[in-house]
Formats: sequence, C-alpha cells, structure tokens
Amino acid sequence: MNKKTPTIAVMTSGGDAPGMNAAIRAVVWTAINNDLQVLAINGGYDGMMSGDFQEMNAGSVSNIMQRGGTIIKTSRSERFMEKKGRAIAYAQLKKAKINAVIVIGGNGSFAGADVFTSEFDIPFIGIPKTIDNDVYGTDYSIGFDTACNTALEAIDKIRDTANSHHRLFFVEVMGRDMGFIALHCGIACGAEVILVPEKKTNMRDLVAKLKAGWKRNKSSLIVVVAEGAIEGGIMALVDYIKIKFTQYEIRASILGHIQRGGNPSCFDRVLASRLGHEAVKMLLQGERNVIVGLKNDRLIYTSFKIASTRKHKINKTLIDVANELSA
Ligand code: F6P
Repeated sequence: MNKKTPTIAVMTSGGDAPGMNAAIRAVVWTAINNDLQVLAINGGYDGMMSGDFQEMNAGSVSNIMQRGGTIIKTSRSERFMEKKGRAIAYAQLKKAKINAVIVIGGNGSFAGADVFTSEFDIPFIGIPKTIDNDVYGTDYSIGFDTACNTALEAIDKIRDTANSHHRLFFVEVMGRDMGFIALHCGIACGAEVILVPEKKTNMRDLVAKLKAGWKRNKSSLIVVVAEGAIEGGIMALVDYIKIKFTQYEIRASILGHIQRGGNPSCFDRVLASRLGHEAVKMLLQGERNVIVGLKNDRLIYTSFKIASTRKHKINKTLIDVANELSA
C-alpha cells in the first residue's frame, strides 16, 4: 500500500479486552498523521458484512484511551465463517473503497483474516488482543496485563475473607485453553495451588498440598483455577475436595467477566499504542496479512496462518516458581 491509498479501516473482533480503545486511537491518529482516511467497521466481521462503517477523526477517539471495552463494538461472527458471508464482506469493503483493514483480534479473528485474505486481494494487519494471552507471535496481547491486575485485586480481597474465616477458596479465573492468567495471578497472590490446562491435575497431589498447608497451620488456602483446567469445572472440583479434605470450610468464587472490563493498565495502553502505530506504518511499507506483536520489547511480524495455528505457550519455569513458593 502506498501513501496515496485513501482509506483504511479499523475493527475490533472477538471478546473485548481492555486496551482495545487505546489501539483504535493509535490507528486513527497514525492514519491521520500520514494523510490516510480512516473508517471504523462497527461490530467486527458482522459489521463488515452489513457495511456498518463510520468515518473516524481525531474527535472520534478523544477521551477513549482510559476506557475498557471497545467503542466500535465487537462480535464473534458465525456468518463470516461461511464463504458466502466473506464474499458479502468483500463486496462491502469494495463499495466503501476500503483499501486495507486493521483487525484488533485474537486467534479466531486471525484465522478468519487468513482465509479472507487468501480468497480476496486486500491487505490486512492484525493487532493481538485477548485477556487469555494465547496468541502466538507476541509475548503479550492487549488486555492480559489489565485482566491479571483485576483478578489479582479480587483474589487479594478473597484472601482477607479466607484468612478471617479459616477457609479454603477455589477461585476460577478466565483462560479457556491456556493458563496465563491463572499462573501469573497465582504467583502474584501467593496461591497455595495453581491449576492450569497445560498441566493435568493430579487429585492426589492436590489433596497432599492442601494437607501440607493445614499441617503448617495456615489460616487460609487459595487454589487458583484456570477456566479450562478441570473437566467438569470448578464446582466438580469443589465437590470432590469437600469429601477428601475436611479441615477447612470450602468456598468457590468464579471471577468471570469482570476480568474483561475496566480501565486498561499503563502497560496495556502503551502496548496498544505501539501496536496500533506500527500496524499503520506496516501498511504504508507494503506489509500485508501478518500480525504485529511484541517479543523481548521488539516489534515483530508473524503471518496470520502461523499466528492462528500455533500456540503461545506458557513459560514452564513459572510453574516451578509457583511450586517452590507455595504451601
Ligand atoms: O477469550 C477470552 C475469554 O474471555 C475466555 O477467557 C473465555 O472463555 C471466553 O472469552 C468467554 O467468552 P464469552 O464472553 O463469549 O462468554
């Protein structure tokens, strides 16, 4: 794409994540400063198919940096997964004279972008966001840091109650397939046990760890559980432990969607600003069909195919740290 290209579009797709607005702002400002017109696609791929576009200017992105969610809405689109839906989307982009698209999304959105760009000749750039932090090609996705801080604040509060009542708490955090939030929050809150999908839970070891905490006279125990760690979910786990370990009163708390909202942290705002800025520069340099990520504090590019098919793995040494510092 060269500087004469008049119009780029920015969209948010998949689950919301704090920092998306900061990324939109960075895209819009960088586009304006480089004489590009910029449109927003409202509502993700669904909005692309229905032609729900709006012009963006400096005023449209003022005062949004600190806000969670996404001002241009998002969706998890079923229809875009069908060829017919994608053909409609392309026709809408052409009609609006959109020459390139920046998609702020996660694995599903990038898989969609990969198929779309193989079918139609239009450059796309991806900016990774997801509180799960499971996008390959970046150390951090927008939203992960904020979600960790939100969950951590909640778990610290739960610890007060657990200590006061001599209770064992199971706290479920988000992380459908990966245990990034659980691992980071678990270490940061001094959890006695952390359960992640990457490591199969051995029930005997779990009970032994809890008993070790009891023997040490701990006034509370906290087990941080990633959403995808236990088949049957946290309540099945609680039912099992209630029979095997009776020394503490047991409670469960599912933090849920509070982890997705809220003001983005400083880290997420800076990350979003860097990635949004770079995404526009990439289009100007002729890059296409890649995501931009941050690795060891450097911006790197990864193709949609690789980003959407490989797994961003947790750092296994963090599991050792967690084990050595708990119960
Ligand atoms: O992918 C982010 C995530 O928050 C997961 O951790 C969670 O499993 C999922 O989205 C929840 O999605 P929804 O908001 O559609 O229920």
